[in-house]
Amino acid sequence: MKISGSIKETRDQVKEWKNQGLSVALVPTMGYLHDGHKSLMERARKENDKVVVSIFVNPMQFGPGEDYDSYPRDLERDAGLCEEAGVDWIFHPEVEEMYGPNFCGYVDMHTLPEKLCGASRPVHFRGVQTVVSKLFHIIPAQRAYFGQKDAQQLAIIRRMVIDLDFDIEIVGCPIVREADGLAKSSRNTYLSAEERAQAVILNQSLEVAMALIEGGETDAGKVKAAITEKLNTCSAARIDYVEIVSFDNIQPIQKVEGAVLIAIAVYIGTTRLIDNRIIL
Ligand code: PAF
Repeated sequence: MKISGSIKETRDQVKEWKNQGLSVALVPTMGYLHDGHKSLMERARKENDKVVVSIFVNPMQFGPGEDYDSYPRDLERDAGLCEEAGVDWIFHPEVEEMYGPNFCGYVDMHTLPEKLCGASRPVHFRGVQTVVSKLFHIIPAQRAYFGQKDAQQLAIIRRMVIDLDFDIEIVGCPIVREADGLAKSSRNTYLSAEERAQAVILNQSLEVAMALIEGGETDAGKVKAAITEKLNTCSAARIDYVEIVSFDNIQPIQKVEGAVLIAIAVYIGTTRLIDNRIIL
C-alpha cells in the first residue's frame, strides 16, 4: 500500500491500472476511520481489483465556527486500518494541493441541499460536491462507495453524477452501528461517557418511527411527532431537525410512500449527531 499526497502521481497510477484492464474503486473519507469506513473498504475490496481511499479533511465543507480545526486526525492509525482492509493506495493531499492559490471554482445544485443538514450548514454541501467532483477527476474510478448515514450527501452525489454525467457508479452502503444502536461516526469521539450513553436516543427514536410505519401508519406528521416525543424524553438531547422527505429530491412529504428518508439531527451536549432510516 502506498500513501501519496500528489494529484499527478495518484492520477497516473489509477490511469495505469485502468490501462491494464483493472477495475478501480474509490472510498472518499475525511479519515479517523471507524467500522463504518471499514465496511465501505471491505465492500470495495470485494467488488474491484484496486482500492483507493482518499483521506482529506476538506475545509470547504466546514462553515465558520464549525469543527474543521478540531476534527480528529490520525493518519498512522488510518493507514494501519487501510492496510488491514487490503487498500492499495491512500490519497492524502495537503489543502494547498487541492485548493491552489487562485482557486475560485465550485460545484453546487439547488433543491436537494436546501433542507435537513443544508438548512443549518449552508455551505456544507457545496464544499462536499466540489471536493467529490475533484476526487472523481483525480481518481477516475469505476465505482465510489459512500455510507448511508450521510443520506442527504448520498442523494446529492447521486444527483450530481447523473446531472453532470460523471462516468462512475455510486454505491451506497448500510449504516454500521455500535452494539447499543448508536450509528458509528468520527464525531462520537467528542461525547463524554455520560453523553455517549444518552446518544442512543437517536436510534431509539427511529425505531419508534419504524414500528409505527410497519404497523401501517402513513401520516408523516404523526411519525415525526412520535420521533420528537421520544427524543424529548432525553434531557441531554436538543433537536436540530426531525424530517420525513422523499429520498429522491429531499423535499418534505405528507405521506410515507415511495422512496422515503426519515432523517434526524440532534445535539447531545454540544455534539451534533445525525441518523436516519431509508425506506425504498
Ligand atoms: O462523508 C465524508 O466523509 C465527506 O463528506 C466526503 C464525502 C469524504 C467529502 O469530503
